[in-house]
Amino acid sequence: MASVHRVAELRDRVRGWKRAGLRVGFVPTMGNLHAGHLQLLTCARQQADRVVASVFVNPLQFGPNEDFDRYPRTLSEDAAKLESVGCDLLFAPSVTEMYPHGREHLSGVRVPALSELLEGEFRPGFFDGVATVVSILFNQVQPDMAVFGEKDWQQLQVVRRMVADLHLPIEIVGHPTAREADGLALSSRNQYLSAQERKLAPLLHRELQRIVDALAQARRDYAALQARAEEQLRASGFEPQYVAIRAPDLQLPTVDAREWVVLAAAFLGRTRLIDNRYLRL
Ligand code: PAF
Repeated sequence: MASVHRVAELRDRVRGWKRAGLRVGFVPTMGNLHAGHLQLLTCARQQADRVVASVFVNPLQFGPNEDFDRYPRTLSEDAAKLESVGCDLLFAPSVTEMYPHGREHLSGVRVPALSELLEGEFRPGFFDGVATVVSILFNQVQPDMAVFGEKDWQQLQVVRRMVADLHLPIEIVGHPTAREADGLALSSRNQYLSAQERKLAPLLHRELQRIVDALAQARRDYAALQARAEEQLRASGFEPQYVAIRAPDLQLPTVDAREWVVLAAAFLGRTRLIDNRYLRL
């Protein structure tokens, strides 16, 4: 697997593949790769002739009090993992390579329809940072398809909407969340958890599953289900930010809905965890 750090080198390689008529798949990441990321790579590998992964910890999508500085950076381990799943090219640009004119007056991409609710309410500007960096990466890599994890459900919807609004000729593929044996969704941030917090962490997914079970048993008292889950999480030591029962496009569900996604974000100590469960009847 080749590794490049400059946009010009990336473009050279991809141009050669495109000229040969090959389909290019792309998996954008912030590195510190775990089995969940590698599943995204394997998915891209199955659907494309060549696969590019990017590793870039994007400062635009971190708030002032968030973990940009302590976000784990493990590039050489990431490269070995990417190679083990058949990635063809690693693109690992510096901040200057990505934002050569600085970040202050950077042209940006916004997806207003989806950026202010749920995650956007608690992480203002987060989805502007994501939409901007993903559109820059799409312009740099020019993939035919790109894979995103369903763990970040709202991010996946934001990317889909951006691609539709901007008429980008890129197929967006969502891949199911990878979980530990006890149900905890894999995340680079899980490593911030203390041993005690790690034991409690799967309760987040269990509360979401409890709501999914209730929906499957015809409960439609959405507000009560959300409130009870928040209460249970609080009683177990979490600080929930939201538990929300939504339609898959994140709008409020109707009482005759047949499809839902139940999403939550909660702090456990200093670690912010997010998760979601999807149900279709
Ligand atoms: O999901 C992530 O890791 C990031 O938000 C992404 C899509 C790589 C953009 O920085």
